[in-house]
Amino acid sequence: MFTNQPHLNNLSTAILSLDGDLSLCYVNQAAESLLQLSFKRLSGKSIFEVLPGFKEIENVLLNALQSNQLYTQRRAQFELHNGQMISVDLSVSPVFEEAQPNLLVELTPLDRYVKINREEVFREQQEVTRQMIRGLAHEIKNPLGGIRGSAQLLQSELPTEELKEYTSIIIEETDRLKALVDKLLGPNVPSKMQLTNIHEILEKVRRLIELEGGPELSFLRDYDPSIPEIYMDSDLMLQAVLNITRNAMQSLKATRHPRITLITRTDRQFTIASVRHKNVLRVEIMDNGPGIPIELRENLFFPMITGRPDGSGLGLSVAQSIIHRHQGIIEASSELGLTRFTLILPLEVSKP
Ligand SMILES: Nc1ncnc2c1ncn2[C@@H]1O[C@H](COP(=O)(O)OP(=O)(O)OP(=O)(O)O)[C@@H](O)[C@H]1O
Ligand SMILES: [Mg+2]
Repeated sequence: MFTNQPHLNNLSTAILSLDGDLSLCYVNQAAESLLQLSFKRLSGKSIFEVLPGFKEIENVLLNALQSNQLYTQRRAQFELHNGQMISVDLSVSPVFEEAQPNLLVELTPLDRYVKINREEVFREQQEVTRQMIRGLAHEIKNPLGGIRGSAQLLQSELPTEELKEYTSIIIEETDRLKALVDKLLGPNVPSKMQLTNIHEILEKVRRLIELEGGPELSFLRDYDPSIPEIYMDSDLMLQAVLNITRNAMQSLKATRHPRITLITRTDRQFTIASVRHKNVLRVEIMDNGPGIPIELRENLFFPMITGRPDGSGLGLSVAQSIIHRHQGIIEASSELGLTRFTLILPLEVSKP
């Protein structure tokens, strides 16, 4: 009954079917990705081997089998085989297969929902802030040309070098302001979407940052070579990955054995901005630096948020807007010695 159920693969709830001795006889795709093991590796294994946390509810499972009782638990936490904890809503239903009692276990992951909702709220807030800043930047940019031109004209009329120094300051400062405003306005070119190999982008970034970071800095790479090419604007994507990786390099200045790790993987069933994708690309950029300063964490992706004296606080905001343009998301997590930026991009982006 449970050996081949393609329609169950479209669910975001993880479904596991257990036989009378609590071994796995079927899991859907959502369960494979929640448990981080393929069905091949799961099939026939005891549930306690893949979900050691289920030991706590062994009695409940046995009871459900013997007395045909349904069991549900909201906001339960269980340990996975790799020590990771999952938060789920749990439901256990006894079902009969060929007169043998089986158990149907449904696990609805909560973390994913919480994250998606947060991301949704953030996305809206950040879009509003970004629009405001763009509006303001335009207003500042417009008169800059006039100020610069007038200062140049004035400079040519001034009799002494001493006086010209003042107009030079006006010109230099308007140039500085223009550069800042251009950065604030972000990349304003229409996207050139083309089939791109993500590893080519990562390798370009690695070479650049290796040069900037010096010989001390080491790079670890763990790429999944089977990842297909996907439609993206490679210049923009390079900019996004570069901004994140450069931050990592800059944060490692005082770290002994500074190391940046680049990982690529594919994941199944991931919801981004309410759209569920069957397959997504996950890129992780990790460093072993001191971590993102606590006071920045909530607003990290907002423009002008910086922890560096010479930073403009635009790198992550620009990176995020590029990833959003590709229907993806960026997430960050950070603790002492491990900061991780994760990019999630839909793999089946159709050619626009
Ligand atoms: N990997 C990281 N480790 C520690 N802190 C980080 C990391 N990435 C970002 N940060 C913090 O987040 C801040 C914001 O980064 P962001 O790239 O947006 O701006 P910036 O680097 O300050 O300026 P720029 O516009 O030049 O990139 C940084 O100043 C830094 O304090
Ligand atoms: Mg930066």
